[in-house]
Order: sequence, then C-alpha cells, then structure tokens
Amino acid sequence: MWTALCLIVMVNWMLNSLTTGMEHLTTSSWRRLSGQDLAVSGYEVWARGRSKVECIRECNKYSHCTSFVFNVSSRTCYLQPALDNTANTAHLGLVYVNTEPDCSVETAPTLNGSVNWAHTLTSLRGKVTCYDDFINTTNDVFVQCNADGSWEWEGGCIQYVWKDPPMSMFPVGLPFPVKSGWSVCVEGIPTSNERFTVELMTASGSQPLHADFRFRFDSAVFNNTIYLGYRLINGSFTGGQGYDDFPFTVGQLFRLGVKATNNATFEIYVDDIIRATFPQHPELPASDVTTVNVRNNVTVTRLDLWCNV
Ligand SMILES: *[C@@H]1O[C@H](CO)[C@@H](O)[C@H](O)[C@H]1NC(C)=O
Ligand SMILES: *[C@@H]1O[C@H](CO)[C@@H](O)[C@H](O)[C@H]1NC(C)=O
Ligand SMILES: *[C@@H]1O[C@H](CO)[C@@H](O)[C@H](O)[C@H]1NC(C)=O
Ligand SMILES: *[C@@H]1O[C@H](CO)[C@@H](O)[C@H](O)[C@H]1NC(C)=O
Ligand SMILES: *[C@@H]1O[C@H](CO)[C@@H](O)[C@H](O)[C@H]1NC(C)=O
Ligand SMILES: *[C@@H]1O[C@H](CO)[C@@H](O)[C@H](O)[C@H]1NC(C)=O
Ligand SMILES: *[C@@H]1O[C@H](CO)[C@@H](O)[C@H](O)[C@H]1NC(C)=O
Repeated sequence: MWTALCLIVMVNWMLNSLTTGMEHLTTSSWRRLSGQDLAVSGYEVWARGRSKVECIRECNKYSHCTSFVFNVSSRTCYLQPALDNTANTAHLGLVYVNTEPDCSVETAPTLNGSVNWAHTLTSLRGKVTCYDDFINTTNDVFVQCNADGSWEWEGGCIQYVWKDPPMSMFPVGLPFPVKSGWSVCVEGIPTSNERFTVELMTASGSQPLHADFRFRFDSAVFNNTIYLGYRLINGSFTGGQGYDDFPFTVGQLFRLGVKATNNATFEIYVDDIIRATFPQHPELPASDVTTVNVRNNVTVTRLDLWCNV
C-alpha cells in the first residue's frame, strides 16, 4: 500500500517535471499552438530533439528563448526568441510557446518614448526614441530585460516641456545640470495685481536666483518692478535689486526667459527683449540649480526647462 502510494506520487512527479541531476524542468507553462499560429519564422538555432520536453530543455539553454517548433519526423527543435507568425508560412512542425516567459515586449514598463526592439535568443533590448517634449539623458537610451525578468535602463527620457495647464509639477527638477548658456522659459498670464515669482533652486534649498515680478508689494518702492535677489542656504533673502522695466499686464500673456550666461550673470528677457542683467552670487553658482519653481499670482501656460532666448 505504502509502496503503491509512493509509486503514484513518483509517477505523477515525473509526468510534471523531469530532472537530470539538480536540474528541475518546468513544462507546465508551455502551450502547443495550432491553426494560424503555425505560420512561423525567425529561427535562430535548431537542435536535435525527440520530444517536446527535449525541445524545452534545448530552449531553456537560451535566456530569451520563448518559442519553438518541434518537427516530429525529422526530430528537430527550431528555437525562437518569440513566436513570430508574421513573415513566412512554412509549416515545419508543432509550434509551442511559453505562456509565462520571464521577458516579453508586452511586459515592458511604459517609457516616455517609442521603442525599437531587438529580440534574440540571448537578449531582449530596445532602443528608445524619446517622445516630443521629453529629452534623452544619455547619448543613446536603451531598455533591456534580464534573464531573471527584471528590467534595466541606460539613460532615460525626462519631460522638459509642459504645455497643458494646469501645471501641477512645480517645483520641477531639471533633467540635467545647468551649464552656461542654459535658459528656462515660462509663458503665463498674471492673474492679479500682486506678484508672481520664479525661483531657481538648489538641492540644499538656496536660490541662486529669486525673481519676483511685482505689480504691487508691501513695500511702496517696489511696485511695478522686476525684483531680483538671492536666497541663502539659511533662508535669508539678500542682494535684492529692482528694475523698472516692467512690461506685464494682468490678464495678458507674457513670455519670460531666464538665461545663465557664461560671464556669471543671469539675463531676464520678457517678450524677447532683455529687461535686466543680474550678477550670479559667488557662492551660489548657476551650475548648482537643480529645480525651477513658479508661484504666486500667475497661471503658467507653458514651461520649457531648456529653451533659446
Ligand atoms: C519536418 O521536416 C521535414 C524535413 O525538413 C519536412 O519535409 C516536413 O514537412 C516537416 N514536418 C512537418 C510536420 O512539418
Ligand atoms: C541626446 O541625443 C542627442 C542626439 O542623439 C545627442 O546629441 C545628445 O548629446 C543627447 N543628450 C545627452 C544628454 O546625452
Ligand atoms: C517619464 O517621464 C516622467 C515625467 O518626466 C518621469 O517622472 C518618469 O520617471 C519617466 N519614466 C521613465 C521610465 O523614464
Ligand atoms: C505700492 O503698492 C502698495 C500696496 O498696494 C500701495 O500701498 C502703495 O501706495 C503703492 N506705491 C506706489 C508708489 O504706487
Ligand atoms: C544667514 O547668513 C547670512 C550670511 O552668512 C547672515 O548675514 C544672515 O544673518 C543669516 N540669517 C539668518 C536668519 O541666520
Ligand atoms: C555677458 O556676455 C554677454 C554675451 O554673452 C554680453 O552681451 C553681456 O554684455 C555680458 N555682460 C557683462 C556684464 O559682461
Ligand atoms: C495672490 O497670491 C497669494 C500668494 O499665493 C495669495 O495668498 C493671494 O490670495 C493671491 N491673490 C489672488 C487675488 O488670488
């Protein structure tokens, strides 16, 4: 009785999995296809095999093999990275596909770009072309699936232009470090006769540029003024200067550009005309800027974290 039970358990176990030494072979996720699935192509490798199980074993030797065709009469396994029934209509045998592959294009994470996939028996790798309004952070952006099913990136696509109000992303991080010649552009509409503020901030919370556009502010001397200053790491505002050229009207669209020049100044453009030049603080260089913030009485309609002014 005990022996018979053991035998049943063993036979069951052998039917479900086959082992040679330490290797444990899972076959349950493999499904045989029929009908139109039989139109296959794209073999990279073939191997001798007397059964489906031997073909699965051959397929498993390659990290990204997820399909094969088993030709019973010629005892051949044609291995493929993925089922490809688009190209030729040769019927070479029984088609199998792994319904639970570790890696497939379908399970790829969503990226901010279109992907051109290259799927081979040993890799699944895609070259990413960033969508409009997204920028590549490395020369080439790649995504790939590792043999264990985890995904890996080389670079990425980060949004750097926003055009759809309401703008809820402030304060917004820059995709890459500021170099001299960098400009940020803000389009918007002042919403009240008070002020709006543009802040170029560092990771430590200081502001190499604190730009306040003041219709009216508590201090009488600074009405209708572009007021530029710094915010130190301890939170104090300092170095403020007022500029009288104030071309803003409540309810009217403006186009503001702030440029970090190569001679250690910030230049402020409004509607393509330079309105102010402000020195950079020696201890707060523009290259430390990581984040841009826009706040107070304004509706932003467009933000470009990299623009030409
Ligand atoms: C198996 O391969 C042989 C020789 O390549 C071919 O003639 C035959 O049609 C194949 N069998 C099936 C079922 O497709
Ligand atoms: C993004 O791609 C362009 C063109 O392929 C390249 O010139 C540029 O250097 C890349 N950007 C970065 C940060 O590598
Ligand atoms: C896609 O873009 C958004 C916004 O810039 C960013 O938060 C996200 O990390 C990006 N996704 C990838 C996979 O790069
Ligand atoms: C500036 O605005 C403040 C606040 O509204 C007001 O009290 C003050 O009279 C204004 N100053 C000038 C010179 O217009
Ligand atoms: C912040 O630092 C500056 C310069 O070191 C100093 O003059 C100012 O008093 C400090 N402010 C505060 C609030 O500690
Ligand atoms: C800084 O350089 C720009 C050109 O890059 C020039 O127009 C401007 O006058 C310079 N400003 C100062 C303060 O030297
Ligand atoms: C202007 O902005 C300030 C600060 O964000 C806010 O308290 C105030 O209510 C705003 N004024 C109007 C008219 O919305």
